[in-house]
Amino acid sequence: MARWQEEIQAILFGPDVIREKVEVLARQISADYCTSAEPLVLVGILKGSLFFLADLARALSIPVEIELMAISSYGAATRSSGAVRLLKDLDTSIADRRVLIVEDIVDTGLTLSYLLRNLRERKPHSLEVCTLLDKPARRCVDIPISYSGFVVPDEFVVGYGLDWDQRYRNLPFIGVLKPECYTLEAGEG
Ligand code: IMP
Repeated sequence: MARWQEEIQAILFGPDVIREKVEVLARQISADYCTSAEPLVLVGILKGSLFFLADLARALSIPVEIELMAISSYGAATRSSGAVRLLKDLDTSIADRRVLIVEDIVDTGLTLSYLLRNLRERKPHSLEVCTLLDKPARRCVDIPISYSGFVVPDEFVVGYGLDWDQRYRNLPFIGVLKPECYTLEAGEG
């Protein structure tokens, strides 16, 4: 039995379903941005969007540049503290550029709310959001999402970039973590 089977209760989206969804998103984005001669700036948010960004970028048929940002979010826990901190900034100016934030999941929305505010101050020509997963049940702030892959229930999901305490990012599917994993974690303080 693979190790993950002890801690993951269900597979929500397998590799083929994810691949098809990424292709659909890439077709939409390519169509929407194909009129601009300038490359679209994809801003991937580390580390969760790593695999999604890599697959999405390769499925796009328009020129792109890739930038990365890192934001503090959960640390070892599974609930957002609401505290957002910029750990790694962009390497380039986005003034007057078309920018698409590529995120793994929008949960409370606090991370993206901070990011949108931060990036808007840099006066991009346009700033939109593409997320692979949307977990609307726990949203505290309204986030304008232009491209969304799957809506997920109010459960903690891992795989395809998403982690639990830095683990399981490398799973080729997206699955639900057994609640006893993180209730145990909360009990440990
Ligand atoms: P938010 O600020 O609450 O929207 O959280 C955004 C970040 O929290 C995401 O980019 C993820 O890194 C992390 N996150 C939220 N929900 C989950 C989940 O179910 N699994 C893994 N990470 C999550």
